[in-house]
Amino acid sequence: MCGVVGYVGDQSVTNILVEGLAKLEYRGYDSAGVAILNQEGIHVRKFKGRLSILADYLEKEPISGNIGIGHTRWATHGEPSDRNAHPHTNVVGNIALIHNGIIENYMKIKEWLIEEKGIQFKSETDSEVVAHLIDHFYEGDLLKAVYRAIARMEGAYAIGVICKDEPDKIVAVRKDSPLIVGLGEGENFLASDIPALLKHTKKMYLIENDEVVLLTKDEVKIFNELGQQVDREVFHVTWDAEAAEKEGYQHFMIKEIHEQPKGVHETLMRRLDKDHNIVLDGIKLTKEDLEKINKVYIVACGTAYHAGLVGRYAIEKFAKIPVEVDVASEFRYRDPFVDENTLFIAVSQSGETLDTLAALREAKRKGARILSVVNVVGSSVARESHDVFYTWAGPEIAVASTKAYTTQLMAMYLIALNMASTKGTMSKEDYSKVVAELKTLPEKIEKILGDIDKIQHQADAQFSNESVFFMGRGLDVNVAHEGSLKLKEISYINSFAIAAGELKHGTIALIEDGTLVIALATQDHLYEKMLSNIQEVKARGAYVLAVAKEGNKEAEKTADVVMYIPDTTDELTPILSVIPLQLFAYFIAVARGCDVDKPKNLAKSVTVE
Ligand code: F6R
Repeated sequence: MCGVVGYVGDQSVTNILVEGLAKLEYRGYDSAGVAILNQEGIHVRKFKGRLSILADYLEKEPISGNIGIGHTRWATHGEPSDRNAHPHTNVVGNIALIHNGIIENYMKIKEWLIEEKGIQFKSETDSEVVAHLIDHFYEGDLLKAVYRAIARMEGAYAIGVICKDEPDKIVAVRKDSPLIVGLGEGENFLASDIPALLKHTKKMYLIENDEVVLLTKDEVKIFNELGQQVDREVFHVTWDAEAAEKEGYQHFMIKEIHEQPKGVHETLMRRLDKDHNIVLDGIKLTKEDLEKINKVYIVACGTAYHAGLVGRYAIEKFAKIPVEVDVASEFRYRDPFVDENTLFIAVSQSGETLDTLAALREAKRKGARILSVVNVVGSSVARESHDVFYTWAGPEIAVASTKAYTTQLMAMYLIALNMASTKGTMSKEDYSKVVAELKTLPEKIEKILGDIDKIQHQADAQFSNESVFFMGRGLDVNVAHEGSLKLKEISYINSFAIAAGELKHGTIALIEDGTLVIALATQDHLYEKMLSNIQEVKARGAYVLAVAKEGNKEAEKTADVVMYIPDTTDELTPILSVIPLQLFAYFIAVARGCDVDKPKNLAKSVTVE
């Protein structure tokens, strides 16, 4: 994780770096730092804690300069502290470096540098090792020194380096950690992600793996791993900076919750032709391809994994292909049975999650066809896939995913329906009915969002709970998992989710007077059974908040409070039933005074293993 930025041009660099880092804080916020180069040399300022500490310092003690690099950290090697914060320098301080990723063989290099050169390290990080390694190879040409250093390095990295003796350039490298270059007039920029640069330019170069970049104010040169210069098409960003601003909302998370009707609508309507048939431009799977496929793996992490669980249901039901869903960090190490008849679906908001990317590569190596569902255009997962479905959620800034999830659900339904119509596993009539129902969902989400007082009221009454149980049956279990993850990650309440039928096999022992249970009861064919499960926990003293479809009034007789969602078919309820759970988690976190958009220990884009 971590965020990196860089600037070279004629403007004063400090604000550009600090503003860029502010847009990348979602990638980590344990510490922040900058290195600014001017006539006197390199000036490093770095502090443990939020970016505001660094920003306040720089306001009081400004540093002039037109070239510099900056970093916001999510700690991996070494605790969050001033000395472990980036940038790191070589012994004499004429080389400074920022790094996102992990250098796997850093110990070996470190020991060698200590023995060979007697270097005394100032930090516990793997990154500092790289600064010394580049220094070791430096003979008047920073680009060459960086090439020689990376030849020794194993792991994942996006790196930016400046050198006092070559005061007009930044050298950057990308291997398995995201990196983009922003193109200006007489100035150029470097960053981990697009929002950091949008204020200055919409023209970007997307840097590929194993590429090295040389930035000066007048040009950007990209080289491949052999040192040959490569051409790169300019990538034009189509959305603007406002899309990544809070626009009056207290937090990005609540803004993004409210953006869901739009995101779901866009994700759907951009895929329907005038006859309301689903057309998926980025997916080239033919009838013959699909007939060959005898198994689908959906692989992802966290919230995206929960979207995959719903995807399994949709693909099995509509397209009649067996599906397995796995978390990426497990899939990649368990030697799964994958061959050329496997369709591998990666789901990822950022498209940069390292575990997902590694699982994708493993499946590709074994011959699988790779389809990805991704939000960030041009991200690594998208670029390494044969077929891509882009969700239209827009930039998601809050660490807790909301609109990416509901658009991923919409993507899964559309992919499943498209496969079904290509394969002929669904009647035209059933297909049209589901599509017609999908079209009603944005309005139904809007309706839930128009009446949030009841949810806020419940959150205000329940915020002091220290544990919460979520339960459901059928598709509701998957939503229960997502609701539970949302709550724990932003409010730090110990919550977990369970298939309601499993209660009596152990978990019910934990239910006692006042235990808060959130019960999802939206599946018509399992409704009566869910009511019995609610009775069971009520009989042990639980306080039950149920989520049910409008009109299913019996829930009121068993649960303490019912949060209603508009009626829809059972298979599509997850897009609606997750909304009250997102809101509940949000209001609880606000009531507990938590930092909603930047929960502790987390980062938005997990580019380390
Ligand atoms: C939770 C959350 C994470 C992500 C997970 C995968 O709210 O956002 O669980 O879903 O880290 O990230 P992506 O989708 O970027 O691969």
